[in-house]
Amino acid sequence: MKKVRKAVIPVAGMGTRFLPVTKSIPKEMLPIVDIPTIDMIVEEAVQSGIEEILFITSPYKKGIEDYFDRSYELESRLEKSGKLKQLEMIQKISNKVKIFTVRQGEPLGSGHAVLLAKSFIGKEPFAVLFGDDLIKGKTPALQELIDVYHQTGANVIGVQEVPYELTYKYGIIDFQDSAQDKIKSIIEKPNIGEAPSNYAGLGRYIVNPEIFDCLETIKTGAGDEYQFVDGLKELMQTQDFYACKFTGTYFDIGNQLGYLKANIEYGLEREDLKKELLAYLKEKTDDQA
Ligand code: UTP
Repeated sequence: MKKVRKAVIPVAGMGTRFLPVTKSIPKEMLPIVDIPTIDMIVEEAVQSGIEEILFITSPYKKGIEDYFDRSYELESRLEKSGKLKQLEMIQKISNKVKIFTVRQGEPLGSGHAVLLAKSFIGKEPFAVLFGDDLIKGKTPALQELIDVYHQTGANVIGVQEVPYELTYKYGIIDFQDSAQDKIKSIIEKPNIGEAPSNYAGLGRYIVNPEIFDCLETIKTGAGDEYQFVDGLKELMQTQDFYACKFTGTYFDIGNQLGYLKANIEYGLEREDLKKELLAYLKEKTDDQA
């Protein structure tokens, strides 16, 4: 079985749910306390053994490319002024992993975005991580998916339960049997009452390179865009898919509430912030009572 060495992170979407800030700041660069979300997602990939990452980016997302690039001027100023801790922090970002970028000229959908990775990937299985799906856990979620890939040799989708009343917002998993591990299909944003389960696919995938043949033939789907999930459905016709019920906590930072929750959760883990943040939250909840 081939090792999963490469990851694709599409970050070229317009982020319309998070306007107006996304007019000039990519949502993937919005900080969770003081670290951009995309940095945390790259860290998850690196911790899971990924060696090369391809960002599918756009002319409006230059901030992401700059963030992972070297910044000689800043580095030399930090060095000259003896701010060595900060210097180390900055250098670590650009040394994390080999990063490549390709531009998606037009945001035609996540499926169109991943298809642009075809020549970068070649003939290996690879990981896809969506740049606005953040997962906080002791074990990196992608590592958990890779473990399932090693056990099964099949394509893998990272899933977690969502409330039944919210299934209309997600790609919902239709399982083959009651063990709920092998996947029959995935239903994008099912109508209320029609969800085949309450497990949603949440932005982490291991897929075989045959996905590209599927992405080349799909038609536009939801939102009139080429959806990655439609490529997955096509691949399910010929290949096995397993669910990985990852153990971390999921945040959709592409919506305001998910973003706020992530900031609070991560803030509460910071020794320098925890005590005062907790006291503030308590004061606020007492006010509301
Ligand atoms: P989303 O649908 O969550 O992102 O796509 P979006 O289109 O930016 O969001 P809204 O609905 O307008 O707020 C999931 C991931 O796929 C990327 C996004 O950047 C996000 O990380 N994406 C989406 C692309 O790279 N290209 C696209 O054409 C669409």
